[in-house]
Amino acid sequence: MKLRWFVCLSAALATIPWTEGAQPDRVVCYYDSRSRHREGVGKAEAPGDIEPSLSTCTHLVYGFAVIDGANYKLVPLDEYQELDSGKGYYRAVTSLKKRYPGLNILLSVGGLADPEKEKYLTLLESEDNRKNFVSSARILLRQYAFDGLDLAWEFPEIYVKKDRGTLGSLWHGFKKTFGFAHSHKDEKADEHRDGFTALVKELKNSLRPDGLLLTAAVLPNVDTSIYYNLKDIVPNLDFISVLAFNYTTPEKKPEEADYPAALYQAGGRDINHTGDGTIRWWLEKGVPAHKVIFGIGPFGVTWKLTSESKISGVPPIGADGPGEAGPQTKTPGLLSYPEVCSLLPNPNFKSASAPHLLRRVTDPSHKLGSYAFRLPDSSSDTGLWVAYEDPETAGYKGAYVKNKGLGGIAIWDISLDDFRGVCSGEKFPILKAAKNHL
Ligand SMILES: *[C@@H]1O[C@H](CO)[C@@H](O)[C@H](O)[C@H]1NC(C)=O
Ligand SMILES: *[C@@H]1O[C@H](CO)[C@@H](O)[C@H](O)[C@H]1NC(C)=O
Repeated sequence: MKLRWFVCLSAALATIPWTEGAQPDRVVCYYDSRSRHREGVGKAEAPGDIEPSLSTCTHLVYGFAVIDGANYKLVPLDEYQELDSGKGYYRAVTSLKKRYPGLNILLSVGGLADPEKEKYLTLLESEDNRKNFVSSARILLRQYAFDGLDLAWEFPEIYVKKDRGTLGSLWHGFKKTFGFAHSHKDEKADEHRDGFTALVKELKNSLRPDGLLLTAAVLPNVDTSIYYNLKDIVPNLDFISVLAFNYTTPEKKPEEADYPAALYQAGGRDINHTGDGTIRWWLEKGVPAHKVIFGIGPFGVTWKLTSESKISGVPPIGADGPGEAGPQTKTPGLLSYPEVCSLLPNPNFKSASAPHLLRRVTDPSHKLGSYAFRLPDSSSDTGLWVAYEDPETAGYKGAYVKNKGLGGIAIWDISLDDFRGVCSGEKFPILKAAKNHL
């Protein structure tokens, strides 16, 4: 009995620095190393291009390492670029600690950088596989002086029902042809949840003696209630970045464009497709608010509009799949914030070609977010609808985090923010706006 009380008391004492009124203090900056392969002004090289963010970030998370399918070891995405035997980007990034001594630099695994998702489940199924992963992770982290590991585990996305409409079946054919990643039901979901719980525990035990951090990022459209045994994993994680965006995407719903990263529910939309709905769920499950990090995506999600789309542009609006890829990010359905801002009327861009500009619609309710659009016409037969994060909407999210007493914000990822300051002259305006409201 006495021992029990003692244990409870120590547990309570251990959490005291986080009693009510604690300030959210974490600014978790994800950097996707694949952005260094972009051409032109979108090319974001670490350390150089990301350095102006580092006086704002408390954690820099280098993404993404992957799993070797042959032996389940943690390996770099690009050995030649990242290891000392090649160009040494890992070392160049962790060396930033000399200039930013308070900065924690973590390595993240998964994060959708690894096209082979199956490994992320089979690894969980066997203790030997997990052992290989855990020991290789510890070695890699220590060898390159990372401060910890972030698990952006590639769990399957929520099952999407096939659409029966004409557009839907058209898309079904398209997806089959072009191999759009589509989710399936996971027959061994319980086993995978238990394996992940064990993995988190085994990693924590391995990293603890060196004082290394262990964190997780929950990717969009993963069923948290299936894969995350919160009661058992949360005590072993320093914090969890909940990516509160991409609730709707052109991959999930090609025929209907809608706000992908609304903060609050409006107009009968699904509460679970909002940042607030998601965060409430985490808090209701008993996860301490200070461990929950609100994930913000500094980008726009785009759909193509058709001649049948509504003239008003008001979402939800009929659409025809992902919008055309941007000149820098070259990804259909996605535009970085600078790519979006170059399409908006802006006194800084006098030479912008007027016919391609989008009409901007802000959100005075502060619930849903900003969007902009251009209807198809005779000069450009591809209309475009884009919902995007901007400094203003990111600021509301920062204020929400403060209000709820959450642990901070995560920006996923900073290469999509305006890291050159072309939109308004300020570098990383979305990161900074969110941080300024914490
Ligand atoms: C929201 O998600 C929770 C947890 O998965 C679920 O229980 C609830 O039914 C969902 N609500 C809606 C409106 O889908
Ligand atoms: C978010 O959605 C865009 C557009 O569909 C996609 O390109 C991007 O990879 C998604 N990001 C994440 C983290 O899911």
